[in-house]
Amino acid sequence: MACTLLFPSLRLIIYTGKGGTGKTVTSCATAINMAERGYRTIVISADPAHTLSDALMMQDISGSYDQKQVLPNLAALQIDPVTEMSKQYDPILSYMASIFSAKGIDETLAYEIAMLPGMTQLFSLLKIEEIERTKSFDAVVLDMPASGEALRYLYFPKLVGSIGRKLTGLAGLFSGFAKVFQPVAKIPAPSRDVIKSEMDFLDRLDELAKIIRDNDTASIRLVANPDTFSIENAKRALMSASLYGINVDMAVVNKIMAGSSDEYYAKWASYQRSKVEDAKANFYPLPVKEVQLYGTELRGVEMLRKHGEVLFGSDDPAKIFYRGKPYLFVNEGAAINMTVQVPFTEKDDFSIERYGDQLTITVRTPVGQVANIVPLPVATAGMKLAKAKLMNHELNVLFEKVT
Ligand SMILES: Nc1ncnc2c1ncn2[C@@H]1O[C@H](COP(=O)(O)OP(=O)(O)OP(=O)(O)O)[C@@H](O)[C@H]1O
Ligand SMILES: [Mg+2]
Repeated sequence: MACTLLFPSLRLIIYTGKGGTGKTVTSCATAINMAERGYRTIVISADPAHTLSDALMMQDISGSYDQKQVLPNLAALQIDPVTEMSKQYDPILSYMASIFSAKGIDETLAYEIAMLPGMTQLFSLLKIEEIERTKSFDAVVLDMPASGEALRYLYFPKLVGSIGRKLTGLAGLFSGFAKVFQPVAKIPAPSRDVIKSEMDFLDRLDELAKIIRDNDTASIRLVANPDTFSIENAKRALMSASLYGINVDMAVVNKIMAGSSDEYYAKWASYQRSKVEDAKANFYPLPVKEVQLYGTELRGVEMLRKHGEVLFGSDDPAKIFYRGKPYLFVNEGAAINMTVQVPFTEKDDFSIERYGDQLTITVRTPVGQVANIVPLPVATAGMKLAKAKLMNHELNVLFEKVT
């Protein structure tokens, strides 16, 4: 099926969420649907467990870390972050390690210290920059590894960008020392090769940051199940993404049990219904797609194709399904002004309470209470909630420094 492509340039879709919620299958289903619409698509996973080959039921994706053509227009790539890292970062890493080992630190340990936290995941993301540069695909669907920290890797370009530049300073500093002390301390000066690698690396990070923060190119999609934990996890991802200016365009609530005549299952199904309502309130105003728990394990191209139809119907999955700011943060001097979109108005009977790093907005409705959890950014930790105002589906909260 060849259709008009909504995105003639690169489209990046990132699925993230708690472990086991269905990120890998949903990534594959999206990628298959897009490939069949004519997008040259690649689905990428950096999951150490080789789940792409499990989901697609194709053996040859695992075993090697080269991209494999799995269907017309669709390639799959299982990234091994360690291989990527040694390919791209080795000169810098060896140099940093050599500085530490010149200081008497055992070489194996020196490598560990020279490695920044989360660095391995970053190399999976750099693959996106490479794809953009080589124009080899129209669309990338990225399956983010299951980890509370996963999203943070996306922000690494900015974060490591600045840390990295400090390291350049550090390397410069060491090389300055090296010139003076080299004969004594045997501190190696960075070679041209090291400096060039470092510069290339930082440039690529900047490019990656541009791609990910471009709301016309990249979208994050949240995957949750009808349970409290995965909804909260996804909500936090929504908050962080907003903080970093990355667009989130959809939430998927997956594995919803169908009703049953059996009391045990009926109870579960009704509990899950209430969690789906919670999810809708918490992800407001994002579109929320609901997907049932299928009768069998979701895997194989045929089932994934059906899953894609359930998710998108006749819509193009490349569409940007929502564009806006569910969370907005504005720094006002030492204060932070936060505006959150909420599914209720000042006319509702609501109360707001702060528990540690989140606000809970409780709304009493004729059918019971709905709780909306609003995770707060770390910056508000030492601040007090000075003002809260709800108007027209917008909650506006002012945090002030405690004096
Ligand atoms: N709607 C569904 N119905 C039935 N089975 C499902 C459904 N969604 C996912 N599954 C199954 O749940 C399991 C987990 O799915 P998947 O591997 O995609 O999750 P994940 O979020 O990628 O997990 P991980 O965090 O471990 O990478 C798989 O066995 C998958 O087939
Ligand atoms: Mg997975």
